[in-house]
Amino acid sequence: MNIAVFSSHGGSGLQAIIDACESGHLNAKVCAVISNNSGSFALQRARNSNIAAYHFSSKTIKDADELQLAIMETLQKHDAKVIFLAGYLKKLDQMVLKAYEGHIYNIHPSLLPKYGGKGMYGIHVHTAVLAANEKETGITIHRVNSEYDSGEIIAQRKVPVHEGDTPEILAARVLKQEHIFIVETLAAILNNEHNPD
Ligand code: GRF
Repeated sequence: MNIAVFSSHGGSGLQAIIDACESGHLNAKVCAVISNNSGSFALQRARNSNIAAYHFSSKTIKDADELQLAIMETLQKHDAKVIFLAGYLKKLDQMVLKAYEGHIYNIHPSLLPKYGGKGMYGIHVHTAVLAANEKETGITIHRVNSEYDSGEIIAQRKVPVHEGDTPEILAARVLKQEHIFIVETLAAILNNEHNPD
């Protein structure tokens, strides 16, 4: 099963998927990595693993339709069957959402619907969780629709908040669990345990 991974920055979630495919834990292949950030380590991780790496951004392709066509052509060229957004901060266009409806997934570092939506990404999520004095947080993998963090929830995993946590400490604890959770959930998806209705 060919998975196209979209990632904007560090790509540690992408790396977890690459490693699982290479080790055989995931019966899949990362067929392409797409980033809106030419300097992202995610693209470097792809190149390090000889995976096709693409920078697509409104900065380089000004016309929105042209940009989405370039993304669509790349997905089709690599015969992508699943799209996984692992730290991708842009919205997918209707063209891609429609073509891959039901087969696009995103990982979010909170127990959605709490601490999701526009502006809730990265350290902002963990800062908000601590500000609300939550005793636990977690991870959500969900299907992607046209709104941020609002598609059908596929799976969730709780992560404890510890006394004295800073946003950075909490972020690191959640991210470590994300890498395990991504692989487990993708394996379940590939095993048809989460077929779209
Ligand atoms: C992760 O916390 C993920 O849940 C969120 O963005 C972060 C990406 O981290 N969507 P990385 O780029 O995979 O290291």
